Amino acid sequence: MRFLGLLASSFVFASCVSTSAETFDVDEALEYCGRQTDRTLTQLISDSTDYSLMPRNIAATDSIWHLRKATCDEWCSGFWPGVLWYEYEATGNEKYKEAACRYTEQLEYLSKTPAFDHDLGFLMFCSYGNGFRLTGDPKYKDVIIASADTLATLYNPNVGTLLSWPRNVDMFGGHNTIMDNMINLEMLFWAAKNGNKPHLHDIAVKHAETTMQHHFRPDYSCYHVAVYDRETGTFLKGMTHQGFADTSMWARGQAWAIYGYTMVYRETQDPKFLDFACKVTDVYLNRLPEDYVPYWDFDDPSIPDAPRDASAAGVVASALLELQQYCHGERKQTYKEAAVKMLSSLSSDKYRSGSRRLSFLDHSVGHMPAGSEIDASIIYADYYYLEALLRLKKLDSNSSGNELRAAK
Ligand code: GLY
Repeated sequence: MRFLGLLASSFVFASCVSTSAETFDVDEALEYCGRQTDRTLTQLISDSTDYSLMPRNIAATDSIWHLRKATCDEWCSGFWPGVLWYEYEATGNEKYKEAACRYTEQLEYLSKTPAFDHDLGFLMFCSYGNGFRLTGDPKYKDVIIASADTLATLYNPNVGTLLSWPRNVDMFGGHNTIMDNMINLEMLFWAAKNGNKPHLHDIAVKHAETTMQHHFRPDYSCYHVAVYDRETGTFLKGMTHQGFADTSMWARGQAWAIYGYTMVYRETQDPKFLDFACKVTDVYLNRLPEDYVPYWDFDDPSIPDAPRDASAAGVVASALLELQQYCHGERKQTYKEAAVKMLSSLSSDKYRSGSRRLSFLDHSVGHMPAGSEIDASIIYADYYYLEALLRLKKLDSNSSGNELRAAK
């Protein structure tokens, strides 16, 4: 709460970030997000609001949020509460806190329900994690720790990773781990520290090491899915599920890798993870189009006519604002400038939803091979975009920016 007050007072001053590339007005972008959030609240809140219905996406042909029930198979239900917590953090306005609490608490049952899949980290840490960081409510802490225990039931010690999709073991031909799963490790690290559960730290480290060993090609681009023998732990194959091909670089998969290894370095301070975070970042940065918002898959042969993925750009912008803090010299400058360039592009008319839709951003791709959420607004694009803006604002205010994502 102390930090919240500090941040709110620093918002009094206009804040422009200059890089050699351009000048970007963070405050203007944050104010825009606030206006769009207010418009969404107007859509959602009435005397009969069902707080278990969460904004998920807006099709390119639509203007208001398509809502989904916060059931255990809906992986995105933590992002809308997370957006509200970030708005509360940015402004100190109690209306956001009140709404954030109501939406967050819809997810509590998941902490004690047998794990449907690995997405518990996304679900519970974006909602309860941010909520605890900003309120210190001990009930929230208990829910996060219970969620981490539930997530850890998916760990297979023969393999050394968490199982991502229990329902797809037969379909993939073994224990499957997807790159996205790296993000869920953050909740395990947190529960290890805050719940005195060192084995959760060990699971997270082993998952990151095993993934580092098998989930990447020689150029450090990643497979989406790694399949392992359940008994022997042997790596069987690398595949895609949401990308263009098994051998292609799916933009959001690589984004999860960049964000994930940056976070694992923060939590372990092991330099091998920092080195790896830089390697998986460089292959991504080297292949970006001019505006730094990737095509949904870097190897889609229809580029330049393929859709972009604003969500990947938001995830990477946020990650790079953290990663650059651990780097020095030219690399540090390159990463910071790249992040600002991404945020600047996302904040332009080309990507902003503006008055057309209630979301912050247009032009994300959810699941191209399934024909789902193509060139749409998607709630996690908004979540990571706002997180990145807040990180930039905090950096600008001489704070670390990392506490945005997880209480220490
Ligand atoms: N975790 C699923 C996705 O990134 O689409």
